[in-house]
Amino acid sequence: MAGITNRVLYGADYNPEQWDRDVWIQDAALMQEAGINMVSVGIFSWALLQPEPDRFEFAWLDDIMDLLANHGISVDLATATASPPAWLIAQHPDILPVDQYGSRYVHGSRQHYCPNSQHYRGAAAQLVRRLAERYQNHPALRMWHVNNEYGCHIAACYCDTCQTAFRVWLKDRYQTLDVLNDRWGTAFWSQAYGQWDEIGLPGHTPTFRNPGQELDYARFMSDSLYACYEQEAVILRSMTPNVPLTTNFMGLFKPLDYFRWAPGLDVVSWDSYPDPAEALPITAALGHDLMRGLKSGQPFILMEQTPSAVNWRPVNLIKAPGVMRLWSYEALAHGGDGVLFFQWRASRAGSEKFHGAMVGHSGRRTDRVFQEVAHLGQELAQLEGIVGSRVPARVAIAFDWENWWALELPSKPRDMNYIERVVPYYRALFTRNIAVDIIHPSMALDNYDVLILPGLYLFQDSYQSALESFVARGGTLMTDFFSGIVDANDRVRLGGYPAPLKDILGLEVEEFYPLANAGTVDVISHSAVLKREQYQARFWAEHIHLTSAEPWAAFHGTFFSGAPAVAVNQWGKGRSVYFAALVDDSLLGEVIDNVLAHHQITPPLAVPNGVEARVRETDDTRFHFVLNHRDDPVTIALPATPLINLLTGEPADNSAFIPGKDILVLAEPKGR
Ligand code: GLA
Ligand code: ZN
Repeated sequence: MAGITNRVLYGADYNPEQWDRDVWIQDAALMQEAGINMVSVGIFSWALLQPEPDRFEFAWLDDIMDLLANHGISVDLATATASPPAWLIAQHPDILPVDQYGSRYVHGSRQHYCPNSQHYRGAAAQLVRRLAERYQNHPALRMWHVNNEYGCHIAACYCDTCQTAFRVWLKDRYQTLDVLNDRWGTAFWSQAYGQWDEIGLPGHTPTFRNPGQELDYARFMSDSLYACYEQEAVILRSMTPNVPLTTNFMGLFKPLDYFRWAPGLDVVSWDSYPDPAEALPITAALGHDLMRGLKSGQPFILMEQTPSAVNWRPVNLIKAPGVMRLWSYEALAHGGDGVLFFQWRASRAGSEKFHGAMVGHSGRRTDRVFQEVAHLGQELAQLEGIVGSRVPARVAIAFDWENWWALELPSKPRDMNYIERVVPYYRALFTRNIAVDIIHPSMALDNYDVLILPGLYLFQDSYQSALESFVARGGTLMTDFFSGIVDANDRVRLGGYPAPLKDILGLEVEEFYPLANAGTVDVISHSAVLKREQYQARFWAEHIHLTSAEPWAAFHGTFFSGAPAVAVNQWGKGRSVYFAALVDDSLLGEVIDNVLAHHQITPPLAVPNGVEARVRETDDTRFHFVLNHRDDPVTIALPATPLINLLTGEPADNSAFIPGKDILVLAEPKGR
């Protein structure tokens, strides 16, 4: 499905079931005023749609769908399967999931279902079929919103049903117990299995569990939740083949391998809730780039963000005036084709009544938040030109959920955090305004000049030849310590670390020297490429020996003084860069600058610190997004090419004044 929209989608989660009908009428009018063109309806409506096992109540939803259609607002219709009704739980208590300690959850919140429960799946399938039958030809139906935030609260279940399903999943993966015993390394601690039925879930154990079992359980749970999605998707595709499907992802959400999920969605959508305390919204940007990468650059939808504050942090800071708009533009700048909120109208009751909403408890259109969202809605109506355009990037960071799971399992040389390995590179590129795609290591590398593999501890066999051809044809590969260490079952790759990368990196690691949390080690320059004489590293160091790589920097003032800390290797037409420590931002930044310069990769516009410059493009137009994250105004120089300010429709001058927290969107015809 190429594009699912021809205008920027703008809207919210809409929960009319919490309100009387006279409020619905006000809602529709206010939505029009706010420029809303799509709302997600029915996400938590199961109990209302099916109040009893054999009774479905669609009349209220019919009326809402009609009302919205009459106001020109389309519907991202939820399948309503995220919160099973009380009667279903009373009928089948085994739907309730079980935690790692064997304790069963109770009804009374949401997402209280075991993903492998056939009673849950059967009831969900029935509801989805009924919804699709009812609304397949409704003019308001624009998109299906399958379930909601799979795994958000319950991403793992330890019930008997899951145990049985896990055995089936394992049999399918390994065929024989001999293979399983070998892959899990069960010779260790007398863990060998002689019967499939002996295999349990990685629950409450005296000490460390089998890492192979834990890793497979993580895969199994992601697959189990995907199976819930898939069964709904199969029904919807058969009944409404032309209505696109999505489910709202959560960005850097560890339990679900979104790279495995994304092919089953027509459009990726996600929910972004950065903490307003974060001055530069780097984690949100990383999330956008990852969500865009899941489907190889296809535009995504920002399905939820808060108009102002959330309700679930200890202290919920608001988005100061201008910030909601600024961060909405950031989503568009990173490849979003829609901006929606949670939620439309603030609830009167329930645990989210103090969550931000487009319309507050006052119901007043003059409130700050409503004014800001209505203003943004009017603006976005002018930006239809950007819809479907792509973010060009020559740098990629490879991100791998299986590695995330494996790297963060316990009993390593030190505790590890995958995201903290990714962020320093991402931040360096973000602050330099260099576009980056976040991709899976198995994806095509043809469009990239630079590939970064942060902390790729779990290294699948298939990655090796792709990386070798990438570097051989002239690409630069950057990677770092404790990468290429284990196989897909968390078994060490023998013969010297990092076994699959030794050649391409031109080095071998002899020993790891993890540093204490507060520990640092000095690093001194060995290369004219670096600007300073001395830098620092923390977290980790290791003793490497170079076979063909050149040292650019070395450890200093320690018993392993002189051992290389940064090593660069020529390989074919390209080169590889290896960091044997978590080096400080200035050292990392200087190496990155060198790599970018080598490939002549430059930012799209020259802008001051704290200002983001991004590009999206179609075949004939380049759209520039300039986002001033600072509080103070900036003046930036613009290129001498013809540029149109998309919000004013006027040609731009050769410089632009951008107030604090303000933005600029420019269209530039591409030369041929
Ligand atoms: C998630 C859910 C919403 C709501 C918001 C609150 O994104 O999908 O239903 O609970 O969080 O931030
Ligand atoms: Zn279960």
